[in-house]
Amino acid sequence: MILDGQLPNAIATAAQTLQRGELLGLPTETVYGLAADAGNDAAVAKIFEAKGRPANHPLIVHVASAQEVTRFASAIPDFAQRLMDAFWPGPLTLILPRRPEVAAAAAGGQNSVGVRCPSHATARAVLQAAQALGVYGVAAPSANLFGRVSPTTAAHVADEFGDGLLIVDGGACEVGIESTIVDCTRGVPILLRPGVFTPEQLGQACGVSVVTPDTPQADAPRASGTLESHYAPAAQVQLMSAADLQTAINAQAPAAGRVAVWSRSPLQVPFSMAARFNLQPMPESATDCAHQLFAQLRSFDAQGVAHIWVEHPPHTPEWDGVRDRLTRAAAPTR
Ligand code: TXA
Ligand code: MG
Repeated sequence: MILDGQLPNAIATAAQTLQRGELLGLPTETVYGLAADAGNDAAVAKIFEAKGRPANHPLIVHVASAQEVTRFASAIPDFAQRLMDAFWPGPLTLILPRRPEVAAAAAGGQNSVGVRCPSHATARAVLQAAQALGVYGVAAPSANLFGRVSPTTAAHVADEFGDGLLIVDGGACEVGIESTIVDCTRGVPILLRPGVFTPEQLGQACGVSVVTPDTPQADAPRASGTLESHYAPAAQVQLMSAADLQTAINAQAPAAGRVAVWSRSPLQVPFSMAARFNLQPMPESATDCAHQLFAQLRSFDAQGVAHIWVEHPPHTPEWDGVRDRLTRAAAPTR
């Protein structure tokens, strides 16, 4: 059931749902989450079951304010504190050493825990109301089946989990791709998942340069968002340069199926091929593109296309998050 987040009782109903140990579709500024009380292992188990996600893949714990972090984290390095000061509330997740007595199931058994304080007004209101009921952290992975495209509207969440799930409608997610994840358990900040913040922005804010997969000494641990194939629509995704896209259109390949083309560059479709190709303009800015990305992939799937051809995003840092999601969507098999 989709509940309008603006209705007077929506926040209270959502908070009570979490307190009862039930699942909730929660809007955030990045993507919608499938939420449960992080302190209730049975509730957290329902998340893994509903998503079909392996129970050793850790979840992010969402908190109402930075003050709540020490309920979950046993230590906060100075650089992590500076990241929180600079970017919270907002689309940044920090991996911190976990207090052994809390949130073991949510953390997938790891001795670390991912924590994030979201900025979405409805998310914050739900987290605050839940906290007043004794729910101090809310575990929430993206509200999609494991390996599939993340949801950025309440309707997307209902498409994934059906009408039985209570979903708070907070509108279309502003950011559109998942939070930037920085591992703060290894002495220096390590970028685990790119999002809207560039490594340079993060490094400037915390005074320590951020280790990225491009850094030669990088030793980044495995995370489910880093599985090669992830965020995959049903149609086959391919990334190409504008020139290669035009060549492929002219060559009339592939043999079967309709093709959606998402590009910033203008392309020409021969008149005889007009029914086969659906050309959609890709936004010029990385933030607009991130905002549209998952809804666009879902919409192409809904049109029943067999292939989605996407123009390579520019190779600049502000496109890292979009490029990462598209590259994974294009990875061959799950
Ligand atoms: O924007 C977001 O982060 C969204 C919204 C709902 O907040 N959530 C989200 O959750 O993207 P999920 O579960 O789809 O991705 C969580 C990522 C996974 O890649 C997971 O492996 C990583 O965070 N993660 C969580 N806890 C971790 C830990 N202790 N160590 C390493 N990676 C961790
Ligand atoms: Mg996810």
